Amino acid sequence: MREQSVAADYRLTHASTKQFQMARRALNSLQRIIIPGESCVPHDIDVVAKICAHHNHDPAALLEILHDTQEHFGCVSDEAARRIAQDLNISRADIHGVRSFYGDFTRDTDKPKLKLCRAEACQAVGSEELARRLSARGIASETIYCLGNCALGPAAMIGKRLIGRASAELLEAELADD
Ligand code: FES
Repeated sequence: MREQSVAADYRLTHASTKQFQMARRALNSLQRIIIPGESCVPHDIDVVAKICAHHNHDPAALLEILHDTQEHFGCVSDEAARRIAQDLNISRADIHGVRSFYGDFTRDTDKPKLKLCRAEACQAVGSEELARRLSARGIASETIYCLGNCALGPAAMIGKRLIGRASAELLEAELADD
């Protein structure tokens, strides 16, 4: 935990992205945690407070604060949202609006890792059948409407990895590797 807190302090007191990335790499190699978008760890609310302070408690920086929180913890929990609302002196509804408008933010770890596009272009090349096949294999997926990969549908995403020409077998293998 000490390394985690040192890295958090380091990040919040040094603006250099490169330095932060070096600290993050060192931390990950030590603890194999906090890989953006992969998992949500319990929030240390003091770190959320530091992120808000780093952005001068500026409500205009809400998006950046949510991104930093998501990057640090893998999600933006309700607890974190409460603290951000308090520190920025804005309503929780404001945070909920931003958090739910941008698909990047997750609230918890319950969401499936796999996102499957079921918008028109992907439907035309079999995303509905793919969803059925995944479900038959017991693989949960979150429905997304366009991942910007329409030419390579059916499109899916695991963590931050975009997968084109997805099949049930391919996605199962990718999830097993994840
Ligand atoms: S419609 Fe599926 S990625 Fe655009």
